[in-house]
Amino acid sequence: MGPMANKLHLAAGLLVAATAVTGQNGSTVGSGPSAAGPTWNHADFESSPAVYPSPNATCQGWSSAFQQASAFVSQLTLEEKAQLVTGTPGPCVGNIGPIERLGFKGLCLQDGPLAIREATYASVFPAGLSVAASWDMDLARQRGVEMAQEFKGKGAHIALGPVAGPLGRSGYGGRNWEGFSPDPYLTGELFATTIEGMQATGLQACAKHYIGNEQETQRNPSGGPNTAVFGGVPGPTIEAVSSNIDDRTMHEAYLWPFQNAVHSGVSAVMCSYNRINGSYGCQNSKTLNGLLKEELGFQGYVMSDWAATHSGYPAAEAGLDMDMPGGISFFSASPSFFGCNITASVNNGSLPIERVDDMCRRIMTPYFRLGQNTNYPPIDASSGGLNFFPVTNYLYNFTEGPANVDVRDDHAALIRELGAAGIVMLKNVNNTLPLKTPANVGVFGNDAPDISVGLYLDGDPDLLNIGYDQGVLPVGGGSGTGRMTYVVAPLDAIKTKVFSYNSKALVQYVTNNTEIIHNKIFGAMINPTPPEVCLPNVTAILAAHYPGQEVGNSIVDILWGAVNPSGKLPYTIALQESDYSFAPITNSSALLKTTDPNAWQSDFEERLLIDYRHFDYFNESVQYEFGYGLSYTTFSMSTATISRVASGAISAAPANNTVAPGGNPALWDILYTVSVIVSNTGSVAGATVPQLYLGLPQPANEDYTPVKVLRGFQKVLLAPGASQTVTFSLTRRDISYWDTFAQQWIIGSSAIGVLAGFSSRDIQSTTSFSPLNGASAYGGSSGSASSASSSVAGGYGAPSSSSSTVGGYSAPVSSPPSSTAGGYGAPSPSSSTVGGYGAPSPSPSPGYGAGGHGGDQGGPWHWASGENGASHWGLPPAAAKQ
Ligand SMILES: *[C@@H]1O[C@H](CO)[C@@H](O)[C@H](O)[C@H]1NC(C)=O
Ligand SMILES: *[C@@H]1O[C@H](CO)[C@@H](O)[C@H](O)[C@H]1NC(C)=O
Ligand SMILES: *[C@@H]1O[C@H](CO)[C@@H](O)[C@H](O)[C@H]1NC(C)=O
Ligand SMILES: *[C@@H]1O[C@H](CO)[C@@H](O)[C@H](O)[C@H]1NC(C)=O
Ligand SMILES: *[C@@H]1O[C@H](CO)[C@@H](O)[C@H](O)[C@H]1NC(C)=O
Ligand SMILES: *[C@@H]1O[C@H](CO)[C@@H](O)[C@H](O)[C@H]1NC(C)=O
Ligand SMILES: *[C@@H]1O[C@H](CO)[C@@H](O)[C@H](O)[C@H]1NC(C)=O
Ligand SMILES: *[C@@H]1O[C@H](CO)[C@@H](O)[C@H](O)[C@H]1NC(C)=O
Ligand SMILES: *[C@@H]1O[C@H](CO)[C@@H](O)[C@H](O)[C@H]1NC(C)=O
Ligand SMILES: *[C@@H]1O[C@H](CO)[C@@H](O)[C@H](O)[C@H]1NC(C)=O
Repeated sequence: MGPMANKLHLAAGLLVAATAVTGQNGSTVGSGPSAAGPTWNHADFESSPAVYPSPNATCQGWSSAFQQASAFVSQLTLEEKAQLVTGTPGPCVGNIGPIERLGFKGLCLQDGPLAIREATYASVFPAGLSVAASWDMDLARQRGVEMAQEFKGKGAHIALGPVAGPLGRSGYGGRNWEGFSPDPYLTGELFATTIEGMQATGLQACAKHYIGNEQETQRNPSGGPNTAVFGGVPGPTIEAVSSNIDDRTMHEAYLWPFQNAVHSGVSAVMCSYNRINGSYGCQNSKTLNGLLKEELGFQGYVMSDWAATHSGYPAAEAGLDMDMPGGISFFSASPSFFGCNITASVNNGSLPIERVDDMCRRIMTPYFRLGQNTNYPPIDASSGGLNFFPVTNYLYNFTEGPANVDVRDDHAALIRELGAAGIVMLKNVNNTLPLKTPANVGVFGNDAPDISVGLYLDGDPDLLNIGYDQGVLPVGGGSGTGRMTYVVAPLDAIKTKVFSYNSKALVQYVTNNTEIIHNKIFGAMINPTPPEVCLPNVTAILAAHYPGQEVGNSIVDILWGAVNPSGKLPYTIALQESDYSFAPITNSSALLKTTDPNAWQSDFEERLLIDYRHFDYFNESVQYEFGYGLSYTTFSMSTATISRVASGAISAAPANNTVAPGGNPALWDILYTVSVIVSNTGSVAGATVPQLYLGLPQPANEDYTPVKVLRGFQKVLLAPGASQTVTFSLTRRDISYWDTFAQQWIIGSSAIGVLAGFSSRDIQSTTSFSPLNGASAYGGSSGSASSASSSVAGGYGAPSSSSSTVGGYSAPVSSPPSSTAGGYGAPSPSSSTVGGYGAPSPSPSPGYGAGGHGGDQGGPWHWASGENGASHWGLPPAAAKQ
């Protein structure tokens, strides 16, 4: 068959890397919708309540390990205690020195959320964003297990991940891809199962970055004495941005996933760089002592983000347990805010020794709990050479084992599978996909070919200015990246696939986006004739997200149908970039030159209304809604049925119980279940994700409540014609709101809308239930079995009807806006196209997939105080580089 015989009859634009969005030079305070809540009074957010003293860890939940930790700590001298709570130069990103006389070899802490970063012969897994797009709890857990096996195999005791902060308040956040989704429920579930998978291997997980870490710009202080570490100009210290968050939004949005993490027994929590209500994340007694340790019952330890500590004993009293990397400068142990200052503070009476003992017990309890005191692998001897501490600065002999241990095992199989599971098919007109056996295939865009600047996306600071304009972006950069041993480029995988069925086929490609946009001889590059389908008639779009090292194989598996797409968007793709302006990044030209130390303020005025909660509340059309994604088959869903699980009366407030990890245990009681039957009505096997949303009542005298919130999801794989009952469990917390007056989770007194469907705007069944059954909100007297009414009570939950439904799926309202330069509809330079002509510049991509190479700021040892929105690629301002 000649190449002409089988013209390409399709175009599949792949959003392999979502477009990075340049940070905007916005106003200082949010331009959030004034309709969404009572008047915002900035003055209420200028300080954080003092919560002292710091709660002691108790044996609650982790009793035998706590006893071992107590026995260990009781043998330590004050100097050894100070050593245990202070990082020190060593072979890992963070190190705690050994105490040889007690057989303690020290602790090795390593980045990051998707791979052991500073390591050889390790795997690079799909990013959190891809995990979220898979909506697959089993794969998420297995990723946790396999990542952790690699950390442990390299001798790391603690992995610095996973991430739920940023949650993804703003599409301009820059490193939202490290975490999961701007939906706190989806993030909470995936965060928790990842932690459980990781810790099942004996590795400690560290939930980060706590809390309100929703922008990179000015995440650290600049200027004055901070210039050496964080950049800026001499003069006064300009403090880090303050995330100003009201109490209800804190509980229902940003704290929510951390509550799941604590409930799952996470070992460590990393406090963040930013301030919260004016107080630094690593010395905010309200967030550390109050919310985390008291309310959530966290029994492990709080470590600082790297150089996020700004004081000694005051930070310890506010709840910080471990200072990382230890020194005030990055590279050496002293001077330090902790270390000798802890010893001195105890000796002069500023810091109670009981607090130091608690810090030490908190650090040692997870170590014993996970059995790290016996037969733990030694640190890979190649680690130190990949790290930033000069060996001459080491103060201790760390126990190192063999170098270059290959820990990859067979993990590539899961990476490929999860990479494909996290691909979302946004559009597929006339069954364009899956491909059959096209003999003339065009591949366009800079995300298709192999990487040209090496397999480690952390970025050589000297190379940052030339960018990464060629090569696939399998994951983001910075401290959240991994060092690949190989990458399967999409172009290579497509060639392999095409030639496997037709050795004479044509695979033609242009990978330079500038050429695609501007070159007038474009047609001459295509031989013998261009395939016939051109923009704007793009017939299929895949959002491939950040699939990891097997990216090309994951994409090919979807393109040719070896895997039926089942990913769903874990964020909203809006119509216009400006549609995301409800949650702006704080930045401006004036701020960058400010001499006011307190000028950087980020008021979270939109409160709970982020992502789909915003678009639903204001009834705005979007391009592709939260939860949306197509399949090669079709599904149907039955009417939802509600079952009351709780026996006896349901009280509005939970019973008073001793707090355990995760908070009041009653919050985790399952009170109701909702079931639907899902059927595969098409002709091929496939998986889908039935989703349960609740329309929770608007509390009296409270901020505005989202129209609906996700409270259940499950990935189900069905053969053609097969059906399955899917049951969602609703905990007390799931059906409550945070009452700021009662300081308690309260079940509202009116009906709760139940909306089950295949996306946030493809609702198949609506009903409702009333848990209190007319009882007063605080009475909790009766509460009989709910009768499910067929209409949604109280006006909740009616989804916006802006989408039309086709085959059970919400069809997009309009075609994606396209950039049609050059007749081939070249994508904007940061996105790219594989397997087709003219991928649209896929609607304003919200940056959940963005970040770009070098993306997240990578840690202050690379550059200074955030990207300042300066670069399309998320690169730092040159002046701030170190
Ligand atoms: C921040 O201030 C708001 C308004 O006063 C308050 O509701 C909230 O609890 C504060 N949070 C913290 C962590 O200080
Ligand atoms: C913590 O325990 C110590 C005794 O080890 C005690 O002195 C202190 O009061 C306790 N702190 C709190 C907040 O309970
Ligand atoms: C103690 O902390 C202060 C900053 O508060 C620092 O200047 C000093 O060098 C520290 N001392 C030691 C011994 O590290
Ligand atoms: C106690 O020591 C700490 C750490 O060196 C120091 O910051 C503090 O000012 C000292 N306090 C007193 C009362 O001397
Ligand atoms: C490290 O080991 C060497 C060789 O055994 C020894 O000379 C040195 O004192 C040790 N250093 C420390 C800090 O223990
Ligand atoms: C899809 O198929 C229909 C019916 O054959 C046709 O009218 C329509 O033009 C096709 N759409 C595209 C984008 O090819
Ligand atoms: C891409 O094409 C442009 C325009 O011809 C050229 O300036 C640029 O160097 C090319 N980039 C690469 C990486 O080859
Ligand atoms: C898109 O398709 C329509 C009909 O399906 C056609 O009229 C139009 O010219 C096509 N646009 C391009 C740019 O090819
Ligand atoms: C945004 O701010 C940066 C930094 O001050 C400045 O270089 C840039 O010109 C500004 N852009 C706009 C569009 O104002
Ligand atoms: C819990 O305790 C508080 C204070 O002791 C009390 O006001 C409240 O009624 C109790 N709640 C329940 C559900 O028992």
